[in-house]
Amino acid sequence: MTSDSSNVAPVGVVVVGTGFIADQHLAALHGRTDAHLVGVVDVDAGRAVAAARGNGGVRWTTDLGTALDWPGVDAAVVCTPNASHAEIALRVAAAGRHLLVEKPLAVTAAQAAGVVRAYERAGTVLMVAHTHRFYDYGRHVRDQIAAGAVGRPQLVRLAVLGGWIWPDWRGWNLDPVRSGGHALHNGVHLLDLVTWWIGRSPVSVYARGARQTSAELEIYDYLEMVVRYADDALAICEMSRGHRPQALSYRDVLVQGSTGTLTVPWDGEANLLIDERGPGNAPIPGGNGFARQFGAWIDAVRGVSPPPVGGAEGALAVALGVAAERSVASGRPVAVADVLAEAGR
Ligand SMILES: NC(=O)c1ccc[n+]([C@@H]2O[C@H](COP(=O)([O-])OP(=O)(O)OC[C@H]3O[C@@H](n4cnc5c(N)ncnc54)[C@H](O)[C@@H]3O)[C@@H](O)[C@H]2O)c1
Repeated sequence: MTSDSSNVAPVGVVVVGTGFIADQHLAALHGRTDAHLVGVVDVDAGRAVAAARGNGGVRWTTDLGTALDWPGVDAAVVCTPNASHAEIALRVAAAGRHLLVEKPLAVTAAQAAGVVRAYERAGTVLMVAHTHRFYDYGRHVRDQIAAGAVGRPQLVRLAVLGGWIWPDWRGWNLDPVRSGGHALHNGVHLLDLVTWWIGRSPVSVYARGARQTSAELEIYDYLEMVVRYADDALAICEMSRGHRPQALSYRDVLVQGSTGTLTVPWDGEANLLIDERGPGNAPIPGGNGFARQFGAWIDAVRGVSPPPVGGAEGALAVALGVAAERSVASGRPVAVADVLAEAGR
């Protein structure tokens, strides 16, 4: 449960990076009375100005340090390209502020560990935006497993298939250096979710990828990732951004446990809608995930409850994504412990 009391001073927030996903966080923020937007930061002044105007004429700057010095700033939401997360997170920690950082927490295990240590030292909240945990389907599966509905989970199959790689992706999404590669960039959603569902330590990742949209792509827009867990549970993840039609957003879940099998088929959620325009899909449940996520973070900042996705979980998700990237490159399973060992913890 989130609390939304007007008796306490609202948490002052700056949003860093005002591109595509920042709008979701801003909408979530505006829906609350216990948080308010102090200002926005973007290295692109035009985008910063537009975001400031579009959000009540708040302050804007291209410089993070300036924003962290604004009066009333308690916390930052970071929505910048993946390779910039760690450095920005360290600056927010050094300023003694709380952080909600977009996934992945960092693009290397060592960077992620450094960020986790910085927040432990600062004593401020670090939460990573693994948003699928806050969607209805993510919570439903976790709740069913926790309630013992299928016994001990042995096999999870999760498919998230879509075609939205273009036209709204900016250059960094297609650059493996700035995104960390697609298994880390978007695969991390699935890797984190199945690990949360299964609730055991991941041992290895065996992955392969395809360039479905075009052989010229520098990233794999289709991925199969198999995660092996302690006691041999398995998660089989299939992710695509190259399916057609572009607007496709297909998701399919199967959890096989020691006493039963749970499925969450896409067909059951897609809400086929037929109107004068012909057949179409009504929005799939789960659209309030960003609001739920934001509320959980504000609760953590206010000390109501711990962050549901803390630094350790964010760092483990990074290790899984890095392992998947390496497995795609080498054609071999990659031990998660080997990736974590590089983080020096
Ligand atoms: N949780 C989710 O479901 C979800 C969905 C989409 C994207 N994301 C993540 O959100 C982040 C942003 O993705 P996006 O699609 O919004 O990207 P985007 O390219 O649309 O926006 C990024 C913005 O950050 C700005 N920027 C770049 N470097 C900066 C810096 N150092 N300081 C300040 N501003 C900077 C850019 O000018 C741009 O406006 C990524 O980490 C991505 O992985 C998460």
